Amino acid sequence: MAGIDWDALRAAAHDIMRRAYVPYSNYPVGAAALVDDGRIVTGANVENASYGVGLCAECGLVSQLAATGGGRLVAFTCCNGAREVIMPCGRCRQLLNEFKAPGMEIETPHGIQPFERVLPQAFGPADLDHYTDR
Ligand code: THU
Repeated sequence: MAGIDWDALRAAAHDIMRRAYVPYSNYPVGAAALVDDGRIVTGANVENASYGVGLCAECGLVSQLAATGGGRLVAFTCCNGAREVIMPCGRCRQLLNEFKAPGMEIETPHGIQPFERVLPQAFGPADLDHYTDR
């Protein structure tokens, strides 16, 4: 998709990464996405003394998406504490899949790619429509 300001998205990810709460892993993550109405939503990881319930940066991002008016994600990037682009974990790719706009792009360590390339054959909302035995 033309016209995406990837530098602005990266800058937003870098900024929010500094807000991460990561006393256990010491691995901050910042995530930023462009929404189809032009706003940018962000999130940072928030860990917990009960390690398994820690929240990935993408959890915060999709929460902010909903809390600020919803919409669809057009472009996404996330970074680590060294400001390197990282791949979202598998669970977070699923979170992003729920809110992707058609043609959503994701920045990866191997460049900008269509989202479908990083979560092929995704299970999504439409799959629930096909279940009729109830
Ligand atoms: N993390 C994220 O926030 N997003 C990802 O997509 C990958 C992993 C966080 C979880 C944990 O707080 C830290 O990175 C180390 O795994």
